[in-house]
Amino acid sequence: MAGERSIVLAMVMALCFCTSSTNTTTTNGGWSAAHATFYDGACGYENLFDQGYGLETTALSTALFNDGKTCGACYEIKCYSTQWCRRGSIHVTATNFCPPNYSKPHDNWCNPPQQHFDLSQSMFQRIAIYRAGIVPVIYRRIPCIKNGGMMFEIKGNPYWILVLVYNVGGVGDVTDVKIKGSSSSDWIQMSRNWGQNWQTDAHLVGQSLSFQVTTSDGKMVESDNVAPANWNFGGVYEGNNFH
Ligand SMILES: *[C@@H]1O[C@H](CO)[C@@H](O)[C@H](O)[C@H]1NC(C)=O
Repeated sequence: MAGERSIVLAMVMALCFCTSSTNTTTTNGGWSAAHATFYDGACGYENLFDQGYGLETTALSTALFNDGKTCGACYEIKCYSTQWCRRGSIHVTATNFCPPNYSKPHDNWCNPPQQHFDLSQSMFQRIAIYRAGIVPVIYRRIPCIKNGGMMFEIKGNPYWILVLVYNVGGVGDVTDVKIKGSSSSDWIQMSRNWGQNWQTDAHLVGQSLSFQVTTSDGKMVESDNVAPANWNFGGVYEGNNFH
């Protein structure tokens, strides 16, 4: 799908970093009590800065997210046809899900069938004036330009290996992962657990690991023995990449 221009109109909204103007309880030294939260990324990516995505990320509405299959896809987004638009476009990677709210009667941008990008405020402000809040956009899939190789973070336990695949170039969205331990010549089919976390119950501790990763355009990249025989849970290993 990369490079194919979509003419679908979508909406973009800045994440709200609003401060409440209602009265707050002032405690010692002028500090006020409030709440903050950390949204655990629905794609499985963890620290977006450490993992090379930076602020150039977007959360996708239900219609675009496709149960996590679109995680890792890259988009070029432009504000479209309002007075609030700035010139130019942004390039972002899909790293999260914008959850629907079916009990909300209005402004439910992340509900199906709406196509919506939830951007960080700084990315939003590159394409539109902040106070617009939400603007129509046009977008297209673009190739993902990533530095270095695909990264494989190995998690789980000796009976259940979970591999997070990130920093994927090319079209970016992984559709299939196979793993192979050095003591066999058979590739083992992994299944998607959630987002871009892939799992197998094969017992591969003590073997060096190879991966075959296929993306939505049907291209496959093989990375042989990326994790050495003494790989460990929590370890991150770098393979080859799509170009
Ligand atoms: C969903 O929308 C309703 C109605 O606007 C609101 O009360 C509720 O807090 C929303 N739920 C979430 C999880 O945002």
